[in-house]
Amino acid sequence: MSFPGTGKIWMNGTLVDWADAKIHVASHVVHYGSAVFEGARCYDTKQGPACFRLNAHMRRLLDSARIYRMESPYDQQTLTDAVLDLIRVNTFQACYIRPIVYRGYDSLGVNPYPCPVDVAIMLWEWGAYFTKEAIEEGLDVKISTWARNAPNTTPAMAKSVANYANAQLIKMEAIADGYAEGIALDTQGNLSEGSGQNLFIVRENVIHTPPIGNSVLSGITRDSVLTIARDLGFPVSAQDVPREMLYTSDELFFTGTAAEVTPVRSVDRIPIGSGRAGPITRQLQKRFMQTVHGEVEDRHNWLTPLPSSKKVVQEGVA
Ligand SMILES: Cc1ncc(COP(=O)(O)O)c(C=O)c1O
Repeated sequence: MSFPGTGKIWMNGTLVDWADAKIHVASHVVHYGSAVFEGARCYDTKQGPACFRLNAHMRRLLDSARIYRMESPYDQQTLTDAVLDLIRVNTFQACYIRPIVYRGYDSLGVNPYPCPVDVAIMLWEWGAYFTKEAIEEGLDVKISTWARNAPNTTPAMAKSVANYANAQLIKMEAIADGYAEGIALDTQGNLSEGSGQNLFIVRENVIHTPPIGNSVLSGITRDSVLTIARDLGFPVSAQDVPREMLYTSDELFFTGTAAEVTPVRSVDRIPIGSGRAGPITRQLQKRFMQTVHGEVEDRHNWLTPLPSSKKVVQEGVA
């Protein structure tokens, strides 16, 4: 979906019209991929717009910046407040949230230190990442011929734009081969993750996901689903998962801020379980969606309502 191109973008503390939110082509990030970013969501709830796990996303943003030796000029609270303010200014009830910390304009060379660290926050309306049919029935995916980044190369735990060169190779190959998504192995051949999603396997009522050390992003939805699964009484395991365990699983699903909880119904044309979304996947998907929409008790304090959301709702009613 193309951008409508309206509204405000936060750039280094200033609200800028969408059309004017530009950087110079000589900015370091354009040439050397020197940026880290986040993807979070604000959901429409009965209490008004509320961001899901905003603190965790902002913490991960600054963790990613720290790994890349980028000193953000703004602390976590300032960035969190900026997101909430930007949602209010743009009058979104629900939106996708994209903060980015990047090396800007000064000079070009592999050494990024001379370039300033700039920060921008964009918002846009972004519904479901996969089709409605896929969310209900499941995706057909393939194992990618591309491996995820090896340990001690570009770090998987940092959500850096550089990692998405690898992600794009995985995604493009999957599309070119007629699949909705690709699953990457790590360089040892163990399961890692999708191009932009973490992966879960269900076998005999136990929920498995690859550990953080297997070149995965430490997904915030992954953590939420592990927590929800434990709350619901399921045993969970985060240990190495060999490729063949995919084909013998009862259920399989992806998690991510964009993908939320999306079932997978086949891998390499081999049906998973019954070849449709499984019951545990559906249960977790339902509970996750109820949680983000504030329809069940927020027992882990994951929702951050907009400070003025009550007022906005009242004004809307009046
Ligand atoms: C490579 C990759 N893995 C996993 C995820 C899921 O992470 P999260 O649940 O924090 O959105 C994402 C989403 O950004 C991703 O890009």
